[in-house]
Amino acid sequence: MIANSAPAGTTALSDSELVARLTPDTLPRHVAIIMDGNGRWARARGLPRIAGHSEGIKSLQEVIALFLELGIPALTIYAFSQENWNRPATEITALMGLLEHYLSTEQGRLVERGIRLRTIGRVEMLPPGALARLRASEAESRHCDKLVLTVGLSYGGRSEIVDAVRKIAADCKTGRLQADEIDEGLFEQYLSTTGLPDPDLLIRTSGESRISNFLLWQLAYTELYFTPTLWPDFRRREALLALIEFQQRDRRFGRIKPSMTPSPGR
Ligand code: FPP
Repeated sequence: MIANSAPAGTTALSDSELVARLTPDTLPRHVAIIMDGNGRWARARGLPRIAGHSEGIKSLQEVIALFLELGIPALTIYAFSQENWNRPATEITALMGLLEHYLSTEQGRLVERGIRLRTIGRVEMLPPGALARLRASEAESRHCDKLVLTVGLSYGGRSEIVDAVRKIAADCKTGRLQADEIDEGLFEQYLSTTGLPDPDLLIRTSGESRISNFLLWQLAYTELYFTPTLWPDFRRREALLALIEFQQRDRRFGRIKPSMTPSPGR
């Protein structure tokens, strides 16, 4: 379902009133975002596509600042999918340059604010400069514990699952693991997101209602929030509205609500 309108009763509220509407105890512990619509945002303004990606970084910064303020401890973003390698070389080069520039200029501030950077995906396929910067940022922020920012780069959910199966098979072959020890908990330890809770909320911008090979295993019980807003326009207020909508959802994880349980004798 696309959230075409703001949650009931929120239109006239200021941003600080929206914050006051949130219940701190039931905020998501992990939010995943598919940041879509940068190209359309740029085209609508007669700008090159990279201008949309560049503006999208400002949205990312606002969302990070909000999550730090609210104490939401994990954010995972889909910055570059495996399929994105099929884009024109000029766009890929510009995107990698943007990533490298962002990390070089922001690294100090990320660490200062307690942001730990992690990556998921086949990052070894990235250009050497971007890869070296990423590895340095991961190492320098290893001790940070306010927010884990996981960046999907050259990421695909199916490949991640296949890679996990390969590692499990290799461990079975060497005798480190027995086949009957494999269960969901063990499988998760072989995924690149190991250690993170599954996302409670997935946000996808720009009106597309698809998962697009993102976190296929991890999204099993995640609440999905699709908004027509293009990513460069998804700022603090939009993020607050998504969180309010999330808190209005009834998460049952396959169970039924106590009020729906038949009363004794019926
Ligand atoms: C999708 O929009 C967006 C991307 C493929 C890239 C997202 C990357 C950033 C916001 C910046 C880089 C990230 C970091 C961590 C610095 P699109 O190009 O598919 O938009 P369209 O569907 O309108 O064409």
